[in-house]
Amino acid sequence: MDSLSSRLARFPESAISEMNALAAQTQAINLASGFPDFDPPQEIIEAAVQALRKGYNQYAHPAGSLNLRQAIAAKQSHFSGLLLDGESNVTVTCGGTEAMLTVLAALINPGDRVLVFSPFYENYLADIHLLDGIPVFIPLRPPDFQIDPAVLTQEVQKGAKALIVCNPANPSGKVFSKTELQFIADLAQTYDFYVITDEVYEHIVFPPHRHYYFSALPGMFEHSITCSSLSKTYSITGWRIGYIIADQKLTLSFRKVHDYTTLGTAAPLQEAAVVGLNFPDQYYQTLLNYYIEMRDIFLSYLDQAGLNYIPPQGAYFALVDISELGFADDWAFCRWLAREIGVAAVPGSSFFYEPVQHLVRFNFAKSPATMHEAGQRLLRIREKI
Ligand SMILES: Cc1ncc(COP(=O)(O)O)c(C=O)c1O
Repeated sequence: MDSLSSRLARFPESAISEMNALAAQTQAINLASGFPDFDPPQEIIEAAVQALRKGYNQYAHPAGSLNLRQAIAAKQSHFSGLLLDGESNVTVTCGGTEAMLTVLAALINPGDRVLVFSPFYENYLADIHLLDGIPVFIPLRPPDFQIDPAVLTQEVQKGAKALIVCNPANPSGKVFSKTELQFIADLAQTYDFYVITDEVYEHIVFPPHRHYYFSALPGMFEHSITCSSLSKTYSITGWRIGYIIADQKLTLSFRKVHDYTTLGTAAPLQEAAVVGLNFPDQYYQTLLNYYIEMRDIFLSYLDQAGLNYIPPQGAYFALVDISELGFADDWAFCRWLAREIGVAAVPGSSFFYEPVQHLVRFNFAKSPATMHEAGQRLLRIREKI
C-alpha cells in the first residue's frame, strides 16, 4: 500500500537541513543555516527564567498572551505608523514558519494560484503544495533582482489568490523599494488579491536602503497580511515566536486555523519576549550596526579571496558567484567546500525555480570570531581547487 500523501513528492527535502547535516558530519563552520551563534540580550534570558518561576507554565491564550499581543501591536504601530491593537490584529504563532502556513491555510483553496518571487525562501513552496495550491514563480533575475512589471502583471491577470513578498528577501538580500511596493499595491487593488509579506528581517536593512511596511501603504491594510517573527530581531530562533498582523476579520480566520494546529507557542517565553519588544529604538540600531560589521568582515574576506558576490541590501546572507571556479554546479561546490575548506553554505539553486546554479548562500549572523575563522578558510579556496 502506498500510504504517504502524494503532496510530499511535490517538494524536495530541505537543502538547508541537508547542509546542516553535512556541516555536523564534516565539522565545518556552519554558514548554511540562518541562526546566530551568540546569545540573545541577557534581559530576555533573565525574563524567561523569571517567567518559569512565576508560574507561566500552562497554556497561554491560544492567540498569544494578551501581554505579548499588545507589545507586538505597540511595536509594529511605532515602526509602521499603523494603529494596531493586540486584541483584534495580532496572532502569535510558532515562528514566522507557522505564521505563513496558517495564513495560507486560511486563504487558499485547492487549485488557487499563489505568486512567489524567485529566488524564494524554501518554505513557501512546501506550504503551498501541502495545501494543494499552485505556486507560480515570478523570476527576479540576479544580480539586481528587479521586478519586471510586465511579467508580474501578466501572471496576476491570469488569476492570483495571493502574492508572497519576502522583504528584506532571503536569500537575495533584496529590499523592495517604495516604488516597487506601490506597483504591487496598485495591482492588488486592481486585480483583488492578497499580499502576504514575510518581514522577519525588517530590522536588518542596510542604508541607504529602507524598510517600508507594505500594509502601511494607503489602502493596503485590508489587502495585506504581515508575517513576522522575533527569531531574527532578538536572536531567539529557538524560542519559536512569530506573529501575524491583519485586519480583524482575517485575524479571526487565522486564529481558527492556529487553534487547531499548534494552539500556541511556549507560554513562559511569550512573557519573556515582551521585555524585548519594549526595548528602546537604540536596540534596533545596535542590532543593525552589528550586522553591518559582520557583513563588512565577510565581504572583505570575499574580496581578498577574489570571489564575486552580490552585495546584500538587507537580511544576513550573501550570495557568492561561483561561475568561474570550475565546479559542475553549486551542489558540487558546497559539498567540496564543507569537506575541503571546512565551511558549510547552501546551494543557491535550492532557492530558484529557474535553473540558476552559479550562486551559493552564506549566512553572516555569527560572532566576529566565527566570521574571521570562516573568512580565513575561504581564502584557501583558490589554492585548493
Ligand atoms: C524569510 C524567512 N521567513 C521565515 C523564516 C522562519 O523564521 P522563524 O524562526 O520565525 O520560523 C526564516 C528563517 O530563516 C526566513 O529566512
